[in-house]
Amino acid sequence: MNEINKSQITKGQIRVVVYGGNGFVGTHLAKQLAEREVDVVCLSRTGVKPVHLQDQAWSEKVKWCKGDASQPNTKFLESVDSIVCLVGSPPLPTFSKAAWEAQFFQNGTTNSHALDAAASAGVKRAVLLGAKVTFPLNTDRFAYFQGKRLAREAAKRFADHSEQQSAVVVEPGVIFGKRHLRSGSSVPLHLLSPLSGLIPGFLMDVNRLASRLADEALNFEPRQDFQRISNSDI
Ligand SMILES: NC(=O)c1ccc[n+]([C@@H]2O[C@H](COP(=O)([O-])OP(=O)(O)OC[C@H]3O[C@@H](n4cnc5c(N)ncnc54)[C@H](OP(=O)(O)O)[C@@H]3O)[C@@H](O)[C@H]2O)c1
Repeated sequence: MNEINKSQITKGQIRVVVYGGNGFVGTHLAKQLAEREVDVVCLSRTGVKPVHLQDQAWSEKVKWCKGDASQPNTKFLESVDSIVCLVGSPPLPTFSKAAWEAQFFQNGTTNSHALDAAASAGVKRAVLLGAKVTFPLNTDRFAYFQGKRLAREAAKRFADHSEQQSAVVVEPGVIFGKRHLRSGSSVPLHLLSPLSGLIPGFLMDVNRLASRLADEALNFEPRQDFQRISNSDI
């Protein structure tokens, strides 16, 4: 399915679009939003609902559609109230120019294009998932760091676009919880959970994060036009 067609538009409901909505954080967020009776559209390049959600009743309430954040459909975004940008890659080292550029593109350009298009389309609220990047990775030599900054600057532009628009960047540490592979099998990242008390400010439970992202996506009257939320404040 390509982004969304007119017959799928539910009148009177708040519509939240989640770029990268079929991923680890995205699926947990989609569940939170679906349970709040919001019209949720999860966009990704493949557009498919993940295999492990096939028998989950809540996932039927979500629209799983194709939509590339780097080439956003501004016309479609005109029907959207809130946008959440979750596209990104892990902070892996890059050993070639092509790999550096791919990581920068994935973390920066994609989200930046989606946020700029959403600002022009009049979307009211933007939520960007950034990351806590600490020493020695917080350097311009690191594509992940530069990409996250490019996306954050786009979130700030979104907030500055008009008085009716606001944006927040949520910056967690390493996220743990049940992650599923494309095949449907799970990776037990929830085993990291006991460590979260031992290394406070470094780990984040995906359920807690998803709940906060949902709150922020539906927060149309924030106290600040632009805000950054650190791992410890999530
Ligand atoms: N996981 C962590 O520990 C962690 C920690 C801090 C920050 N973060 C950040 O959190 C975000 C989400 O992480 P995650 O672990 O949920 O990632 P993920 O599981 O890889 O999910 C990202 C999803 O984005 C989709 N996607 C990729 N390129 C896209 C594009 N151009 N347009 C639309 N969708 C696209 C992918 O699906 P398709 O292939 O179908 O497009 C993928 O399912 C990332 O920005 C990451 O850097 C993650």
